[in-house]
Amino acid sequence: MIFIKTVVLDAFDAKKDIENIRLAAEVIKNGGLVAFPTETVYGLGANALDESAVKEIFVAKGRPQDNPLIVHVDSIEMMMPLVCGFDKRAKALADAFWPGPLTIIMKRSERVPNVVSAGLETLAIRLPSDEIARALITEAGLPIAAPSANLSGSPSPTCAQHVVKDLSVRVEMILNSHSCSVGVESTVISLVGEKPRLLRPGFVTVEELESVLGEIEIDKAVFNSIANDAVVNAPGMKYKHYAPKAPVKILKGSFEAFKEYLEKNKCDGMVAMCFSGEGCELSVPFIEFGAEDNSKEQATRLFDALRQVDEMSAKIVYARCPNQNGVGLAVTNRLFKAAGFEVIKL
Ligand code: TXA
Ligand code: MG
Repeated sequence: MIFIKTVVLDAFDAKKDIENIRLAAEVIKNGGLVAFPTETVYGLGANALDESAVKEIFVAKGRPQDNPLIVHVDSIEMMMPLVCGFDKRAKALADAFWPGPLTIIMKRSERVPNVVSAGLETLAIRLPSDEIARALITEAGLPIAAPSANLSGSPSPTCAQHVVKDLSVRVEMILNSHSCSVGVESTVISLVGEKPRLLRPGFVTVEELESVLGEIEIDKAVFNSIANDAVVNAPGMKYKHYAPKAPVKILKGSFEAFKEYLEKNKCDGMVAMCFSGEGCELSVPFIEFGAEDNSKEQATRLFDALRQVDEMSAKIVYARCPNQNGVGLAVTNRLFKAAGFEVIKL
């Protein structure tokens, strides 16, 4: 559906802006789409129990139909009818990390339309900590299915301007709010198999999950490129993602080696993605995406940096390789995906 105009309403404070949040909740209740902030990235929401509303999400984003959505709830109570069983492990995770940037995959109940989880027998559930997101769910009184509010394939939106750029006239309403503090999408963990399995790294780290669950498996899609026709555990992990228009290549090695490589291969349209404080030593246009030793800062800035590269009309992008510890695993995963897993060892 194309709208003549997307309504953009301010929602910076869940109390002061409650009237606008209520208007957004009305849109959701009437089967429409609303983009809203969360602590991770902006989401594009619809009533998770309304099949035709959920179908519109796929159309608006240009999202492949086989990529299931995460359902957002404001409480365990709202979640219970949507899943079959909430076992000890799920409860332990919820106690430790909800509300927050963790998505848990469980068995789906009959209540949830097939289209939400792309026909899978499982369902991804998240209880966000963001106040505006929770107020929206509470005012709607419904679980909200929401992928990231970007066009499929482009970097996830970490501020309202990103959403306006991607989804204007494609959705009925956008809540204009703060930039996202986490900046990468939620950690996704599946509790469906015998062993808990990490499907997507995020702000809740492997170490934190293991402190609650004991050892977890890490899906191989976290590190590797997946063929588009492959059967994978997290269908979303197989698509090219987060990519600017120009090809991105990751250069793994020291900053000295990075500088040398850029000098040797210098060409028109080259843009460097480097750590804070490094740009002034380079002789090509650059974007800094956080301090080398601060993965959380890199997470907050990465997607905006990938979008800026497009605005600089880059023809080729060379990026520094982040460290993989803690939240760094999520940063590395997203940057590797943007690069189609092309890493050059220096
Ligand atoms: O932080 C987030 O999770 C954001 C905000 C809006 O909450 N949402 C988000 O949604 O990133 P999306 O659709 O962009 O990513 C959902 C990921 C995809 O990789 C999808 O394949 C996976 O979760 N997923 C969803 N349901 C699943 C299921 N039943 N089994 C396996 N993977 C699932
Ligand atoms: Mg997404």
